[in-house]
Amino acid sequence: MSNDNEIIAAGRDFLRSHWDRMEKAVSDQSKGVPAPQQQKPCPAGGRVVDLVPRERMSVGRMPLIDAVTGRRSRRKYAEQPLSMEDISFLLWVTQGVREHGEIRSFRTVPSGGSRHGFETYLYTQRVDGLEEGLYRYQPLDHRLCLLRSDAGMREALKAALNGQGWNSAAVFVWTAVPYRTEWRYPVVAGKIIALDAGHVCQNLYLACESIGCGTCAIGAYDQEKLDAFLGVDGEEELAVYAAPVGRAVPE
Ligand SMILES: Cc1cc2nc3c(=O)[nH]c(=O)nc-3n(C[C@H](O)[C@H](O)[C@H](O)COP(=O)(O)O)c2cc1C
Repeated sequence: MSNDNEIIAAGRDFLRSHWDRMEKAVSDQSKGVPAPQQQKPCPAGGRVVDLVPRERMSVGRMPLIDAVTGRRSRRKYAEQPLSMEDISFLLWVTQGVREHGEIRSFRTVPSGGSRHGFETYLYTQRVDGLEEGLYRYQPLDHRLCLLRSDAGMREALKAALNGQGWNSAAVFVWTAVPYRTEWRYPVVAGKIIALDAGHVCQNLYLACESIGCGTCAIGAYDQEKLDAFLGVDGEEELAVYAAPVGRAVPE
């Protein structure tokens, strides 16, 4: 069998449930290993930006039927910036926490076993009140930590997205932290993480639509370059999905 055929077979196998494997597996959760952290900490001494809380958000009132009907992938954006409220809303809609305890949280998106094995990185270019830079969202605190704001980031990100940042005002990048899901579901975590990612990005699409913005899911990115841009090791944490966002232009 050619290498391509093996890869295709592995891809199909990945789609199967494999729940029988879970019945034989021993998870770290069942062994009493403490649950992994639900969000990464902010870098010590770095800038932290509080976001507009859910109770004070006034955007996003479009009826669901209109948001669903209007949703499409948008790859051209107006030059106007996003507001802090827009960004706060988009972050909350994609990963916001409704309720949480020691080992899990309940959020605006579903997640197998409530593991929520993602970190959200946000590169901002045109957001009022936010300096250009790379941030990470902390869903439990609904705030952003600034990670870097050095020169040349825009070009590096564009290359990592294979030229697909377009003229966006901001770019969402989601990483997976696989162990968060493996801790509970050791042998089926990969598929659960992939399914979970779809919910997150679909919420972003609908939320963008509801505030006059647009986005486009990006799966065709350069893994090594995007991991390097984010500063993640590509093993314990790796980029899985990206989505530029900007004000929509009439099509
Ligand atoms: C998992 C996934 C990966 C995608 N990757 C890309 C991409 O890398 N580049 C791109 O331009 N569009 C990408 N898209 C957007 C699709 O091309 C788009 O959803 C499709 O053409 C249907 O158009 P619509 O979203 O406007 O309905 C992706 C969509 C999904 C769901």
